[in-house]
Amino acid sequence: MQRLYTDYIHQRFFMSSLKAFRSSFLDFIADPFYVSELESVRYIPDGLLVLEDGKIKEIGTYDSLQHKYKEISITAYPGMLIMPGFIDTHVHFPQLEMIASYGEQLLTWLNKYTFPTEGKFKDKTYAQKVAAIFLDELLKNGTTTALVFATVHPESVDAFFEEANRRHLRTIAGKVMMDRNAPDFLTDTAETSYQETKALIQKWHKKDRLLYAVTPRFAITSTNEQLQIAGRLLQEFPDVYLHTHISENVDEVAFVKQLFPESQGYLDVYDRAGLVGDRSVFAHGVHLTDAEFHRLSQANAAIAFCPTSNLFLGSGLFRIETAKSKDYPVKVGLGTDVGGGTSVSLLQTANEAYKIAQLRQQKLSPFQTLFLATLGGAKALNLEAKIGNFNPGKEADFVVLDPRATPLMAFRNSDATPTSLEELAERIFTLVIMGDDRAIHATYIMGGLVMGNG
Ligand code: GUN
Ligand code: ZN
Repeated sequence: MQRLYTDYIHQRFFMSSLKAFRSSFLDFIADPFYVSELESVRYIPDGLLVLEDGKIKEIGTYDSLQHKYKEISITAYPGMLIMPGFIDTHVHFPQLEMIASYGEQLLTWLNKYTFPTEGKFKDKTYAQKVAAIFLDELLKNGTTTALVFATVHPESVDAFFEEANRRHLRTIAGKVMMDRNAPDFLTDTAETSYQETKALIQKWHKKDRLLYAVTPRFAITSTNEQLQIAGRLLQEFPDVYLHTHISENVDEVAFVKQLFPESQGYLDVYDRAGLVGDRSVFAHGVHLTDAEFHRLSQANAAIAFCPTSNLFLGSGLFRIETAKSKDYPVKVGLGTDVGGGTSVSLLQTANEAYKIAQLRQQKLSPFQTLFLATLGGAKALNLEAKIGNFNPGKEADFVVLDPRATPLMAFRNSDATPTSLEELAERIFTLVIMGDDRAIHATYIMGGLVMGNG
């Protein structure tokens, strides 16, 4: 049984002290889409991870480090694999309760299921309850950082950030801006969205580990005036993020063309408003043109690849090999996109990413999928200086994975701890394809245990 350690919320659990963990460790020190596995994968079959004040002090083989840390108690996880916490680069916390809504594609799905659900988040108490459930669900699934849509209501953002802060999470979120093509109970105006967003940035951005994203929903639900206002906010607050959707669904792309006839294409709508920069994260991008990929590359903007959502809503198959081309590299992370997505688990999301590549006659290696879920996500969010791998100085958010979490996984993984990269690739591929929240043995935030099995 998974257990959430709610007492950590009040504990000064990451305060100064040395801590060490002994297990197998896997992280990435470079991008396996561009360099070999030997150069990008750091694997230590019997390692020691040493933390100080919730940050990584050092990592190495147990044999090489243990003599230096004789005095401190060591937590051992034999048979497990420790990785950096997973990073979800696109998800909607208010949509958790409408996950698995039947039968529609994007635009009908939004009107039929999403908008009525999001209407409930005007009530802060309700929003707080769902935010708590959502964040605990993330932690149970090994997700330690997420880029999150709230709703149009500032109350939903306050509720979310309060709960995230209680859990000491590094997380990014924002109030949705939408001033047309949505029900009245869910729209703001260009002016109110400016005032409310500005106030929320001043209240939350850089408070502890929290960061703010200016969040126009997508081009269909914002007037050009509101998109320009979003651009103005980015100019006034240059270190906040821009988070929106792009080119997810064929009917959506056609509607955007109709709404913005003067634009060269979907990305150009955002570009003209000053929304395409190196802190911009665009969810989906299934129907982007080559020219649009080039522009994203040039701007150093990121795409959140949301495979379970793209399949569930029948949106299409993302061209990962185009995004990760050597000539025009685009930063890519994985997004669950719950509730358009069907799982909170980044393992399950990586699983579907692999299958989408298969359907396109492409291969995503086991290492590539887990890179996207960790360091790749950190790079997409410009957070690689703080999270994403076990380099010294980074914040110690990590997951303990159990390769034998279910009887079938135990049967499949009955061999001993992998000693080569080939053996490791096979082992982690079973985690990606068969794993879900049951494979998350424990989750640590800033070196403190927040969720554990058993
Ligand atoms: N495009 C605009 N809003 C949404 C949303 O809530 N979910 C998804 N998947 N796409 C969107
Ligand atoms: Zn979305």
